[in-house]
Amino acid sequence: MNKHILCIGAGYVGGPTMAMIAHKCPQYKVTVTDINQQRIDQWNSDELPIYEPGLDDVVKKARGRNLFFSTELEQGIKDADIIFVSVNTPTKEFGEGKGMAADLQYWESAARLIRKHANSDKIIVEKSTLPVKTALAMERVLSAGSGDVHFEVLSNPEFLAEGTAMLDLENPDRVLIGSRETDTGLKARDQLIGIYANWIGHDKILPVNIWSSELTKLVANAFLAQRVSSINSISALCEKTDADISEISRAVGMDSRIGGKFLNPSIGFGGSCFKKDILNLVYLCQYYGLKEVADYWQGVVSINEYQQKRFVLNMLNNMFNTLAGKKICLFGFAFKANTGDTRESPAFYATHQLAEEKAKIIISDPKAIPNARNDLQGLDADVSFIEDPYEAAADCDAIAVMTEWKLYEKLDYRKIYNNMRKPTFIFDGRNVLDHKKLFEIGFNVFSVGKPGMTHYE
Ligand code: NAD
Ligand code: UGA
Repeated sequence: MNKHILCIGAGYVGGPTMAMIAHKCPQYKVTVTDINQQRIDQWNSDELPIYEPGLDDVVKKARGRNLFFSTELEQGIKDADIIFVSVNTPTKEFGEGKGMAADLQYWESAARLIRKHANSDKIIVEKSTLPVKTALAMERVLSAGSGDVHFEVLSNPEFLAEGTAMLDLENPDRVLIGSRETDTGLKARDQLIGIYANWIGHDKILPVNIWSSELTKLVANAFLAQRVSSINSISALCEKTDADISEISRAVGMDSRIGGKFLNPSIGFGGSCFKKDILNLVYLCQYYGLKEVADYWQGVVSINEYQQKRFVLNMLNNMFNTLAGKKICLFGFAFKANTGDTRESPAFYATHQLAEEKAKIIISDPKAIPNARNDLQGLDADVSFIEDPYEAAADCDAIAVMTEWKLYEKLDYRKIYNNMRKPTFIFDGRNVLDHKKLFEIGFNVFSVGKPGMTHYE
């Protein structure tokens, strides 16, 4: 059994995934490397670079025992038997495929590093989300002039969701392992299965062909995002017809063939992956000449953009068609609860839209303020950051709930209302508050996919 595991890329996936492997497999040495020294320093400190419930505990138990964070890529590659590659694969921002295709430059630079420093056979595991057929390119880069060293490439996409990453890693719905169906491919596959079998039942470990594995990852994200766009598209119709999206979502989800998950209406999906992975899928379909298929999936992204835009437009319309000079407090900036991650957060787009309307924006969030500050650097607008929600909302005209943090459900809204300007508005972009109660307190209440509740005619 292999003993040395290396991960290239110490991000939201590499860090937690390797921490879980080290935690469950004390017999292996697990090293996580990155080119970003600051990130590695943070992984070695008391303030980890990402907030994820349960992560601190696992890292602190394993770190220094069999879990190491380091920038020493060269030595790490030499020592490793299995190398997971978990670098970022963002949307390309230049050249052919700009705005759609995956930018594979970090991926290829990791492959080149491996080829340069490896002096014995290695199993290379694709952990990053990649276009189908990337393993072929990886094999080509790795085998160009590698002499006697054999590299076996496997695909093992990660399905963890932020905020529940440690639970997802400990108890995944499935672990997908794609390999070549050659002797060496199947042998490598069995080694990787051996790692996961330390804590995951064989019934949940799915060996498949390598291209299915790569493509499944894109498809799984596309299906999840499609559900969100489907319910969000119907929320717009509800607002025109006095139907209630929560009732519809519940009733539709109770059909066991459909299921109730991922049918929460919202201000649109965010996060670093849904949009980029769907655009990647769209690009692949276009590349293979499948225009109708590409258009179908593009629709999921288009509805999401529509939903994000619609939310601020609703604010504008309901606040007498002007937001100029009005103070709007955003409750939440993270793209979902239980994470400090703000990548592609709907709150980011809302802030820009509100800035265009010349509103004054106050941002509150229990974990995401440092990232929010960073994201909004250079935005020409009146933006301030106040963690305490009571202080943040004081003297504001409106609150907009952008993230479904539990704490927002438990606030004393009477106290908040008393300290706000009148007339007072609340826009619940996550449908998590008690709207009837808020209305009784005096708020004009607007949510997603439900009739508005106003105190004026
Ligand atoms: P991230 O940006 O948080 O981390 C990637 C890390 O890779 C960065 O720290 C970067 O410095 C490092 N890196 C880049 N090139 C490198 C190189 N040549 N050598 C060493 N380090 C290098 O990204 P992430 O969110 O962890 O995502 C990584 C991959 O996993 C992406 O393909 C993403 O689509 C996929 N994924 C992400 C999630 C998620 O929830 N974030 C879930 C499943 C899959
Ligand atoms: C998603 C997938 O759920 C993971 O399986 C996948 O591994 C990951 O992407 C990835 O590839 O990066 P994540 O983006 O962390 O995980 O979070 P989700 O829980 O999927 O939420 C994504 C967005 O959809 C959030 O903005 C969330 O608020 C929104 N959402 C989700 C809704 O608006 N409604 C819902 O019913 C569910």
